[in-house]
Amino acid sequence: MINRPRGTKDLYDDEMEIFEFIEQNAKEVFEAANIGKIQTPVFEFTELFARGVGNDTDIVQKEMYTFMDKGDRSLTLRPEGTAGAVRAYLENGMSSLPSPKKLWYMIPIYRYENVQKGRQREFNQIGVEYFGSPNAEADLEVIYIGMEILKKLGISDDVVLKINSIGCKKCREEYKKALKKALKDKINTYCEDCQRRYDSNILRVLDCKVEHDKAENENLPSILDYLCDDCKKHFEKLKNMLEKANVKYEINDKIVRGLDYYNRTVFEILDKDGLAILGGGRYDGLSEVLGGENIPAVGFAMGVERIVGIIKDKKVDYKNKNKKVFVITEDFSKGFKITTKLREKGVLVEQDLLGRSVRSALKKASKQNFEFVIFVNDTNFVLKNMENGKETEFLEEEKLINEILNVIK
Ligand code: HAM
Repeated sequence: MINRPRGTKDLYDDEMEIFEFIEQNAKEVFEAANIGKIQTPVFEFTELFARGVGNDTDIVQKEMYTFMDKGDRSLTLRPEGTAGAVRAYLENGMSSLPSPKKLWYMIPIYRYENVQKGRQREFNQIGVEYFGSPNAEADLEVIYIGMEILKKLGISDDVVLKINSIGCKKCREEYKKALKKALKDKINTYCEDCQRRYDSNILRVLDCKVEHDKAENENLPSILDYLCDDCKKHFEKLKNMLEKANVKYEINDKIVRGLDYYNRTVFEILDKDGLAILGGGRYDGLSEVLGGENIPAVGFAMGVERIVGIIKDKKVDYKNKNKKVFVITEDFSKGFKITTKLREKGVLVEQDLLGRSVRSALKKASKQNFEFVIFVNDTNFVLKNMENGKETEFLEEEKLINEILNVIK
């Protein structure tokens, strides 16, 4: 037998239902904020991610699924959704549309990672990107929407929002100098990756997952002490508005995120075990890096599989509330008429397809928690309420259908 590749999942039954529950709730929150959905290709030119996400990131260095196509072009399965969204925004001339342009997505993502709990090689992200506003108000709305989705899913009490500002190009240069100085004498005790990062992209040292390096990083200077006046103002405004909007947050000045395109606001939402279920921030420079005009932007993405885990652990009620009807008959075609008529009206109906006896069909209906059974007989219909056992006889199809529509509500 051929098995699925490591780090992938098959989704069906309960997990699929939880996925749909998450997407449906997210969709409602996005639609209420007038955000349209976008879908971009699963693969893009490799250069989009090398330039967009950054050559020095773990994602680009170690985790991309890159391949040559038959035309000798280097393509990559998307390791994140933002670069593709920016490319689509620029390529389709969306800057001529009313601003800000707000887009959301639910897409599969591919990263060649060390597989462990909550860390897969194919996973799904629900994300949102706001293009065209440089203001802290847009940061606030994006963060608020992330929290709103978690609230709707019934898990907002189990998470913590952490925010930081990593400044702009100008103030970050000053901070990098301070970091270099502080790390100079101890970088040789850090992991090999960090020793490389020290020269190539020193900020990445702050994102190291190695315990020793993480602990040492606690003593490094804080980026927040190096923000220029404009970046400071932006961050103060965001904090102030978060408080006014009753969004609880903590400041963590070591958050730099694993992708290079961020500036100013960055944020993560962590679960009880400290695992990130959502990450995002402002990325005003990405559009220019990708060859477009200057488009300020902010967004986030949440890991759907990680949220599924919380929903399962917390036993959130995600079940589809539709009452279910099972049709049992010896005359399949006569039964199928009722089945299809009810389905047209949106009722969830199943009809036996295995030629089961009445007894074993009833057993199936009861085992799978069908609320109603319809027996379609030669001369009448009987509606059985499986919860209380009550049976009602109908001579006319129309009356039966009306009754079902009545009781199903
Ligand atoms: P990210 O932090 O790399 O950000 O990923 C976002 C979320 O995806 C994480 O917080 C996590 O929940 C989930 N995730 C990441 N890796 C895995 C994995 N291997 N298995 C399961 N879940 C995972 C981004 O991708 C940015 N594009 C977010 C963004 C949008 N920033 C601005 N706009």
